[in-house]
Amino acid sequence: MATRNHLTFKATMVQVSVPATSANLGSGFDTLGLALELRDRYAAQVLDDATFDIDVTGEGSDEIKKDKNNLVIKAMMHGFEHMGQKPKGIALRQLNLISHGRGLGSSAAAIVGGLALARELVLGGDQLLTDEEMIRLGTELEGHPDNIAAAVLGGATIAWMQDGAGRAVGIKVDPRIKALLFIPEAQLATSKARKLLPETIPHHDGVLNASRAALLVHAIQSRPDLLLEATEDLIHQNYRAEAMPKSMALVTKLRSAGVPAVISGAGPSVMVLHTLDALEVEEVIKAGAGSFLAQEMAISTHGVQ
Ligand code: HSE
Repeated sequence: MATRNHLTFKATMVQVSVPATSANLGSGFDTLGLALELRDRYAAQVLDDATFDIDVTGEGSDEIKKDKNNLVIKAMMHGFEHMGQKPKGIALRQLNLISHGRGLGSSAAAIVGGLALARELVLGGDQLLTDEEMIRLGTELEGHPDNIAAAVLGGATIAWMQDGAGRAVGIKVDPRIKALLFIPEAQLATSKARKLLPETIPHHDGVLNASRAALLVHAIQSRPDLLLEATEDLIHQNYRAEAMPKSMALVTKLRSAGVPAVISGAGPSVMVLHTLDALEVEEVIKAGAGSFLAQEMAISTHGVQ
């Protein structure tokens, strides 16, 4: 429950960095997430007058709102409200490296970054806004908890909804597992991708995904040899294929060759979780040549900092 507090705002500018995230990981729709070492950086300061002074550099800088509807600002205000008091105005500087509309968690980064800025700007903020509360508040804004969880906790995460609230725990990641991303030029809005999902799924498909998601938790922790089987999915990727045919074709091609490829989040990026050596990675990269930018990304062991 939000409490009414009189807050002491810090006078200084504070800075946070927040990782990109890949959600679903194939079988774990709206549940599993992974933090990637590609970070947006935000800095903010409380202002005495009622203005929002916002500057955005990098990815999405032309489209991002520069007023109170800016997602980082909205998340900051949600965090301040939870802690008990909102400041009059905010100066915000955003340096964005996470590309937008590609299934790499750019909106979760903005939300978690905003909540973390609010926490840092308040004296004793860590007590008033814990990581657990960040996951709950962030999920309220994002609508699903998987990217939010990974952006807060880092590493791999299992997230779920409990009585309408986002909850999550982190799990260990086998250090042999690496991530390779294929990022296309085209964007796909998560809202559009979610509209393509059916109201109901066949019982068999639900059973298959439940078994694979459970197996994936084990595979990520210590059995990377099971990643191909564990990332199998029947409940979201195929339904969305019409919105990202090239991405689905790449996933199918790689999986047929024994490479554990999945759609990253709501797409259209493709992620491969693997233990391949450099030469094998070069071969895999060739599969997406021409249509995708291939980028190796370390798995981020830290969430927002
Ligand atoms: N689980 C969400 C979805 C992730 O697939 O719609 C969105 O990034």
